[in-house]
Amino acid sequence: MSSPIVISEALDRDSRYTALLPQLDGLLEGETDAIAAMANLCAALHATFGWHWVGFYRVIGNELVLGPFQGPVACSRIPFGKGVCGTAWSEGRAQVVPDVDQFPGHIACSAPSRSEIVLPLRGRDGTVAAVLDIDSELLNDFSSEDATHLAAICARLETLL
Ligand code: SME
Repeated sequence: MSSPIVISEALDRDSRYTALLPQLDGLLEGETDAIAAMANLCAALHATFGWHWVGFYRVIGNELVLGPFQGPVACSRIPFGKGVCGTAWSEGRAQVVPDVDQFPGHIACSAPSRSEIVLPLRGRDGTVAAVLDIDSELLNDFSSEDATHLAAICARLETLL
């Protein structure tokens, strides 16, 4: 049985990432199935940071297809290059969006979402195999520091893709 993720609410965001990483290693240890690992990662991030929506989309053919997530129901398919997620895929780099209303082509899955961060995950063949998408109800909630910490978390998954 896996241990619960325990992160003090008194910690600031940076310290939460630092406390979370070793616990994620424990949570994912020995897991060989990417979907199972994505599901637990979403739950851990959602519980630790309280974001509106945390989830994965997987590259299947020429679309991103909804994978494990925590939060309200979301659009299930996103074409290559469309929205923030499709842009992270086509450009192969993280997208930090301070105000979703200012992002051309943003796909509004959930009205309360105000800012967003999306990171591409590369599979063993080096191509983008999935994206991690996180939405916040706050404007300007994400920075390059989030991108750095979340990339370290995503790296735990990339060996399974
Ligand atoms: N806003 C995203 C779509 C996915 S939802 O936020 C869960 C986008 O523009 O790609």
